[in-house]
Amino acid sequence: MILLDKDINDLQMLISEADIQKKLDVLAKDIESIFDENEDIYVICVLKGSVMFCADLVKRFKNNIQMEFIRISSYGHETKSTNNLQAIDLTLPNLDDKNVLIVEDIIDTGLTARFLTDLFKIKHHPKKLVFASLLNKKCARQVYIDPDFYGFEIDDKFVVGYGLDYKGYFRNLPYIGYFPD
Ligand code: IMP
Repeated sequence: MILLDKDINDLQMLISEADIQKKLDVLAKDIESIFDENEDIYVICVLKGSVMFCADLVKRFKNNIQMEFIRISSYGHETKSTNNLQAIDLTLPNLDDKNVLIVEDIIDTGLTARFLTDLFKIKHHPKKLVFASLLNKKCARQVYIDPDFYGFEIDDKFVVGYGLDYKGYFRNLPYIGYFPD
């Protein structure tokens, strides 16, 4: 029995697979250009939503990469942020004096990005700290924060696909879409 209250047939395309992949070519070049080409980059993938974006992004990098994974949850099963961050796993190696790139799927209220930026500055003392997000919902911001790099600015819509989920579903879609009201 399927309990999901959204039907994939109702999903409207917002950003196509081709547009995402084209944007990643540009983003990867822009991000890499701020690091010295001989320097390692520690890429921090914020699970679960960034899994697709992060995997596709790092494939384009020419620098030596180390990948680390942390897990934070803020939405639960809702389509509005609960404003209640749950740090599920923040285990990381020593990143003192390292080049760190945090990779997020979307910045919505900004609470997660603010939490992570503060955490990395206070706890890890990186040499360079860079924040990249595929999507930027600027109009939904509750705290002042902006990523150093982002792919697309979007309206205040709940989106799914390419890592982003509704109740755990739709992460596997290669494009980003939304359910009309
Ligand atoms: P923020 O802390 O409100 O900026 O939200 C950050 C997290 O909420 C993201 O990393 C996503 O996992 C989740 N999120 C925010 N907006 C959406 C959306 O439109 N669809 C799916 N997940 C979202």
